[in-house]
Amino acid sequence: MADLAQIGVSGLAVMGRNLARNLARNGFSVALHNRTSARTKSLVAEHGDEGTFVPTETLEEFVAALERPRRVVVMVKAGAPTDAVIDELVPLLDEGDIVIDCGNAHFADTRRREAALRERGLHFVGAGVSGGEEGALLGPSIMPGGSAESYRTLGPMFEKIAAQVDGTPCCVHVGPDGAGHFVKMVHNGIEYADMQLIAEAYDLLRDGLGATPAELARIFAEWNSGDLESFLIEITAEVLGHTDAASGSAFVDVVLDQAEQKGTGRWTVQTALDLGVPVTGIAEATFARALSAHPEQREAARAALPGPSAAVPVEDRDAFVDDVRKALYASKVVAYAQGYDQMAAASAEYGWDIDLGAMATIWRGGCIIRARFLDRIKDAYATERPASLLVAPYFRDAVAEGQEAWRRVVAHAARAGIPTPGFSSALAYYDALRAERLPAALIQGMRDYFGAHTYKRVDREGAFHTLWGGDRSEVDG
Ligand code: 6PG
Repeated sequence: MADLAQIGVSGLAVMGRNLARNLARNGFSVALHNRTSARTKSLVAEHGDEGTFVPTETLEEFVAALERPRRVVVMVKAGAPTDAVIDELVPLLDEGDIVIDCGNAHFADTRRREAALRERGLHFVGAGVSGGEEGALLGPSIMPGGSAESYRTLGPMFEKIAAQVDGTPCCVHVGPDGAGHFVKMVHNGIEYADMQLIAEAYDLLRDGLGATPAELARIFAEWNSGDLESFLIEITAEVLGHTDAASGSAFVDVVLDQAEQKGTGRWTVQTALDLGVPVTGIAEATFARALSAHPEQREAARAALPGPSAAVPVEDRDAFVDDVRKALYASKVVAYAQGYDQMAAASAEYGWDIDLGAMATIWRGGCIIRARFLDRIKDAYATERPASLLVAPYFRDAVAEGQEAWRRVVAHAARAGIPTPGFSSALAYYDALRAERLPAALIQGMRDYFGAHTYKRVDREGAFHTLWGGDRSEVDG
């Protein structure tokens, strides 16, 4: 009988296919399964020479081809298809086997599946995988959840196929049950915020300055050699520098301005609302995509709503470009600070004990938000957990240095009528966080007035209520 495979991949669309190839290229023998065997055959025909593949046709054959404890990677569409594969797979498995879901599952589904499989003596690992097609093949960032025991057998394999930065793999055991998928979800939320902020910087320079896409490509390429160095800034320069072959126009000008989304940004915001964590950067980014996707409403508004009465000129172009760069950086710090707050809150809520510094470490390479910046976040969490990333010394100083520029940019955008929900709400968050007193006191007063919801006082303990409809004396609440 042929040697048993060390790991199996079921679901061979592009991500599964590339993960399987990555495993094989790294010396692991990989059993292959796909609902329709054409994909299995084409993988072996085209890439069979990259390593040891064991093609199988049925799930029974696939399971039988795996060494024990079996490691089964499931790479199918999140939601019902994942449940369908698990339901078929589970009866074929034995105690101690590990099912690994590498899709973008909702962490609550992962928690449910993990609990169900644990009951049957199986391990379920929800692993976030970031880096797109290329990352899956050449080294993604991997965020596995699940039991520590499952990580002992799976971890070394994942660490080998993950991206490596300074000799450190971009993979670490995140925490139990849904922790890995939660962290991947927040990664995607931050990805939304990062992209929105970059898009606003582009809009400010394009609309506010009249810069051409080619000029902007150069500006972003230059930014990519400084503090903003990141995959997303790099590809922004690439996209802006690209010319559409059919029309000869800048590519960015022939693309419909309606952003789509598959749902991970929305999940991040929904979850943050439940946890009571303000992730305004991610929320604005998600809503900005939603707004863009309502063309009829936009058309009606375009016809009806006036903008500023006069153009707002930019006096010094170079200074404005630099201001926008600083505003982008400061807003980005806010978005990350909020995402980190969300991970910290979920970690406490679900008892995951997530090492937040380690999340920055594994996001330094392979994933979509990989950036120089993440080294700084890793450092910020190296000794203690800051109350907010914004107060960690490096970021505190960087934002303080850029805050005047940030304010000028947001003011300019408001006066010029350029929408910058990301920049503006990030600045509002920064100012709210550092405020001595917030108008929340007035909100408490109104709540007490109309609903007797009570309030606390600054000068003594307890809950109080004012008899608003009576003599306005104060009673205990
Ligand atoms: C990644 C990406 C990946 C996917 C996004 C796109 O980390 O590799 O985030 O997961 O490309 O989910 O999301 P939207 O379609 O919602 O923009």
